Amino acid sequence: MLRLTESDDRCFRRCLKGVLCSRDVRSMSAFVQHAEISTLEHSVSVAYVSLWLSEKVHWRVHRRSLVRGALLHDFFLYDWHLKSTRKGLHGFTHPRTALENAERRFRLNQCEKDIIVKHMWPLTPVPPRYRESVLVGLADKYCSLVETLRKHAVYRLNQSE
Ligand SMILES: [Fe+2]
Ligand SMILES: [Fe+2]
Repeated sequence: MLRLTESDDRCFRRCLKGVLCSRDVRSMSAFVQHAEISTLEHSVSVAYVSLWLSEKVHWRVHRRSLVRGALLHDFFLYDWHLKSTRKGLHGFTHPRTALENAERRFRLNQCEKDIIVKHMWPLTPVPPRYRESVLVGLADKYCSLVETLRKHAVYRLNQSE
């Protein structure tokens, strides 16, 4: 069971609250990511695991950027299972779409932009520039694997401590 320190958990919830103010972010709950897991549940899990991972490897990170970037990394706003709704090859194009959507609704710093646009690396060729982007890339792959194999989210929004 992954568990954040009290201070990281407070930071996580603060960032989550800020990003969830956007109705479009909340609309990710209507899109399926893997199995029965929505894109919103997936993104929240990736944010939680990214922060947990930063504690484990003892990397100094900008926690707010890490969590916000992770929460918005899949903000592409369509059902990627439906060919009619997606543009090009989803695996390659969705990081850019997510960034465009996020930039329209939030003021993002360079680190948050890098997290979103590089999270599919090495599938997309340009490597991450920040350690926060590396962590989100790893957490994304881990969560995707768990969601696909075990068919449940790594972290649930109303999870009790
Ligand atoms: Fe993605
Ligand atoms: Fe993802």
